[in-house]
Amino acid sequence: MPTSSCCREAAGCSADRSVLLRRLAQRAYGRQRSRRPPLEGLEPISRSFGFDRGRPIDRFYIEEFLARHAADIRGSVLEVAEPTYTRRFGTTVTRSDVLHAAAGNPEATIVGDLVSGDGIPTRAFDCVVLTQTLPFIYEPRRALEGVLRSLRPRGVLLATVPGISQISREDRRAWGDYWRFTTDSMRTMLGEVFGADNIEVEAHGNVFVAAAFLYGLATEDLSERELRTRDEDFDFLVCARAVVAG
Ligand SMILES: C[S@@+](CC[C@H](N)C(=O)[O-])C[C@H]1O[C@@H](n2cnc3c(N)ncnc32)[C@H](O)[C@@H]1O
Repeated sequence: MPTSSCCREAAGCSADRSVLLRRLAQRAYGRQRSRRPPLEGLEPISRSFGFDRGRPIDRFYIEEFLARHAADIRGSVLEVAEPTYTRRFGTTVTRSDVLHAAAGNPEATIVGDLVSGDGIPTRAFDCVVLTQTLPFIYEPRRALEGVLRSLRPRGVLLATVPGISQISREDRRAWGDYWRFTTDSMRTMLGEVFGADNIEVEAHGNVFVAAAFLYGLATEDLSERELRTRDEDFDFLVCARAVVAG
């Protein structure tokens, strides 16, 4: 998020102008906060992950993670359901494939099952972008083995999974909504499949972020401080990078 100090450095603003900008930003933030409904009661504010208010809070962390690892999204890239992140964050992508578990997705170039391996080419990809997919696979460890088989040597898996989330009705209907994860489960599963030295696992969030997401608030409803404060008792969103030993 731009701050008044970087605005001053970049655009050569005067000190007066930066004070004015800061006051305007504070006033706008005050208005935003006052529009934010309280987190109370038995009904969520949104049942669609906050999409109807703005950007879902989990996407804030997912997209920051992928932006940080954009250099991995290169060569032959496989993404699940849509090529959105390949297009947005990919650097030198030579081929973009989209995997879907069932026929009928017009964006899919591969219909396949990561657990059985049916339809999934082996040693084909330099990068697999596996965002928010493992909760919907009953055997996530076997799915990771499927990802490993699909990657080339030195290939990279970028995966994100929810630690705390409402049920995805659409996915439950299509495949089942089975799991939520912690840094421990991701570290153990990925370590078993890719080797402990080849993985990095991190988590984001805190009690307020988790509650806000469950109630259906959006990223725009939260302050930078609320989004960035990390509390290790709340693995809200878990991100992992794994590299195939060369
Ligand atoms: C919520 S979508 C996730 C993808 C999306 N790109 C995202 O960022 O949220 C869940 C996906 O899980 C995939 N899926 C479910 N079971 C699968 C399986 N056994 N093998 C491969 N993919 C599977 C489905 O194809 C579906 O697209």
